[in-house]
Amino acid sequence: MGFASRALEPTVEVNPPVAPPPRISARDRLLRRAVKADDRRLTPELLASLAADRMQHVYVLLDASGGPCALATMLLEPKLLRGGTTVAHVCEMSAIPTLASSSFASPEFLLQLVEEARREGCYKVITDVKPASVDAFLKLGFRQAQMAVEKELVPAPQRLPHLAAAALAGTVAAGSLMLAGVYLGLPARVHSAAIACSWLAFAASAANAARLRANRLLEATSVPHRIRVGSPGGQAGTEEDTTTLTVRRLCASDSHAAYLELLAQLSVAPSMTSERFAEQLERVEGSGAHVILVAEPADGGPLVACGTIVIERRVLERGQLLVAHIEDIVVDKSLRGCGLGRALIQHLLAVAAEAGCARATLNCTPENAAFYQRCGMRLSDAAGLALYF
Ligand SMILES: CC(C)(COP(=O)(O)OP(=O)(O)OC[C@H]1O[C@@H](n2cnc3c(N)ncnc32)[C@H](O)[C@@H]1OP(=O)(O)O)[C@@H](O)C(=O)NCCC(=O)NCCS
Repeated sequence: MGFASRALEPTVEVNPPVAPPPRISARDRLLRRAVKADDRRLTPELLASLAADRMQHVYVLLDASGGPCALATMLLEPKLLRGGTTVAHVCEMSAIPTLASSSFASPEFLLQLVEEARREGCYKVITDVKPASVDAFLKLGFRQAQMAVEKELVPAPQRLPHLAAAALAGTVAAGSLMLAGVYLGLPARVHSAAIACSWLAFAASAANAARLRANRLLEATSVPHRIRVGSPGGQAGTEEDTTTLTVRRLCASDSHAAYLELLAQLSVAPSMTSERFAEQLERVEGSGAHVILVAEPADGGPLVACGTIVIERRVLERGQLLVAHIEDIVVDKSLRGCGLGRALIQHLLAVAAEAGCARATLNCTPENAAFYQRCGMRLSDAAGLALYF
């Protein structure tokens, strides 16, 4: 290595000067640089909305001459595991094709992303990697423990909510008034009315776009959902041997001990104060792209299952493609084998489609892969890698 040689022989320049390594600078500066780079997939609107997003960050790698050469996105997922922690998902890593990509150095880039995740207080970084790249990641300290499974979804079409209808009506009214004003020589008041209509239409459509972006996942989970599963040890197919459960969003007034008991069947989930629980739950729902669902008996009783959805906007698809990451699936020991796990996954997939996602993905141990296949998902050729701090 060049640096080691120079340390041993300080007076002799054994190697040519080493070019400064690629670097990541402050996020907002990188975004502006990316716009300058004129990558058409990175529209100013997308970059502006991502810059305001506290949970999904975009990083651009700058080469030695300061030009952007690669891009990656990192999705931060606050969890209630481990006393309330955060996981970083590195989702997209790609050379920027409109630029010379010869200096795209993914190991350096990845190491710097890992540093960013550490700075964000994450306890691990996870990423799905194609087989050809696995070795490079293992050399950086990543471990391969999980398999990736996925399912293509048919995203629900965006409904035409009131605000969109108002925007449309405003535009039609403004256009008609203007035409009438010009051709029929109507008084100035008609022009003013047309301008007022067009402003109303503009305001309604802007408010509607913001509402759709922020609330589709929250809307899709706003009403509790009923599912019916077998009873433990019951005879399949008989009415008496079914249990009706309600699936709904976890809320701050829930017993955090009950939720943590479920999580403890999956990973380390020590108790936490109610304040910490509420604070972390606020972070979860604050982005509008992340919900935790829980199942409980419809006639009351403790929580018996849980699952999480986190939505990623694919930047390289101009932010138009949404991908749902499914996390922290647990069915309480007392109800396993009754079909609850499958019903929960099917509900999460339906919610993801309703929220506009075109794909759902999750990582699992090889022992659980068959369960997800029984739920209609398929094994992807990517490996789920993790690096723990
Ligand atoms: C994995 C888990 C969620 C499954 O829940 P469940 O309610 O027992 O599953 P279901 O009863 O709905 O099973 C659906 C089907 O998958 C099969 N199945 C369930 N778990 C399986 C497993 N680990 N391996 C293979 N098949 C499995 C069932 O036999 C059933 O098959 P069928 O279609 O022939 O009826 C549950 O065992 C659990 O919470 N485990 C501990 C936490 C965990 O590992 N979570 C997964 C994190 S990725």
